[in-house]
Amino acid sequence: MIIHANDFFFTFTSMSSTAAIGIFDSGIGGITICNEIIRLLPNENIIYLADSKHAPYGEKSEKEIIELSIKNVDFLLNKGCKLIVVACNTATTNAIETLRQTYSIPFIGIEPAIKPAALKSLTNTVGVLATKGTLSSALFSKTSEKHLEKVTILERNGEGIVPLMESGQLDSPKMRKLLNKYLQPMLDKNIDYLVLGCSHYPYLIPQLKKIVGPKVTIIDSGEAVAKQTKNILEQQHLLNKTGRPITHHFISNINTHVLKQFVDVNARKTIVEEVDF
Ligand code: DGL
Repeated sequence: MIIHANDFFFTFTSMSSTAAIGIFDSGIGGITICNEIIRLLPNENIIYLADSKHAPYGEKSEKEIIELSIKNVDFLLNKGCKLIVVACNTATTNAIETLRQTYSIPFIGIEPAIKPAALKSLTNTVGVLATKGTLSSALFSKTSEKHLEKVTILERNGEGIVPLMESGQLDSPKMRKLLNKYLQPMLDKNIDYLVLGCSHYPYLIPQLKKIVGPKVTIIDSGEAVAKQTKNILEQQHLLNKTGRPITHHFISNINTHVLKQFVDVNARKTIVEEVDF
């Protein structure tokens, strides 16, 4: 079901502050963003949707990414979400414009944090590790072009990383080999900033630090997304100030075995559920 802007206007204007923040990604990666949101907005209900069945998004066409994003948004709107965080760089760079044109609910997206890296780089060389879908998007080109006068941007498609993570392999020999292969050429060219352009990658920071060493600063966009989420909720008078008990609901469309390794399953407010969608 697609709710078009006009149909949705009435629902949105009468939205309750206790409605959940909806968050989606192609799998467990967006939980890195979800955790930042929970840290900043501990009183909010959250519904997190992991579309692991269709991971990786990064190897799909723009059309497929838009279709999957619309499906995820419809699912979250049917659960009554008041705002949606597209916790996936690939979906943001390929689909957020369409989502904003299709629905009147506020959307927060995530993009590789090239700007702070470019502004702070002393070697004037910045590495970006992201999916093929993100690197080939028009939005990514537009953002990176703005900084090309100051810095050289070394892009690398992290092909294979997300499927390994979705199968629960974060620190396997296979993963270490892939990361070395992708990062060594950037280190040879003297990067001093590494931008993580995929919401899955912050889980790899301990392994990445071992490879890049102390001279390279690793940055991701999670905190910025959480701050923007708070700003928009404030502006729309949608912050939950009721003090009523809240839940953090994590939904996956495959077996929740891997998902459960990434969420605080023992917290009383946590619900983990497998749903076929
Ligand atoms: N976590 C997503 C991102 O930020 C997508 C990874 C994928 O499914 O390829 O790009």
